[in-house]
Amino acid sequence: MNRQVRISVIHGPSLNLLGTREPTIYGSQSLTDIDARIKAHAELRHITVRVCQHNDEGHIIETIHEARNWADGIVINPGAYTHYSYAIRDALAAVGLPVVEVHLSNIHAREEFRSRSVTAPAAVGQISGLGAHGYLLAMDALQERIELATNESD
Ligand code: DQA
Repeated sequence: MNRQVRISVIHGPSLNLLGTREPTIYGSQSLTDIDARIKAHAELRHITVRVCQHNDEGHIIETIHEARNWADGIVINPGAYTHYSYAIRDALAAVGLPVVEVHLSNIHAREEFRSRSVTAPAAVGQISGLGAHGYLLAMDALQERIELATNESD
């Protein structure tokens, strides 16, 4: 592949409050801090990245649809929508891009309702519990997958 892999990173509801939101669970880094890490990592790995955060389902879905026109893959933390948004799951499935779902906290070690993700079946994988590092791992995993797929089709 002779052009940069392009990844859309989407943060869901209330992730704009990171840093002050339940810091014992989500850590003390703000979303601005995390986005700076994502962008620095993208530069290091020669990935083109666009990062956004939306509190409402409609904007998340529109961002997923838009990714179809420019991105090779999606990294998404759907926040609480993870647990009940069939609309986001369908949007992810509809665009047909490889998706990695990320959670800062370990959703399998918290309240029972969090252990079910309705969006994960539309993803190639899920990273949960590794904090902001999860976003960087997700980008690496997508890059490798996309480059492998491209080389195979050459
Ligand atoms: C979260 C986990 C969700 O259960 C929660 O609703 C969030 C954040 C995480 O990153 O750990 O908003 O997605």
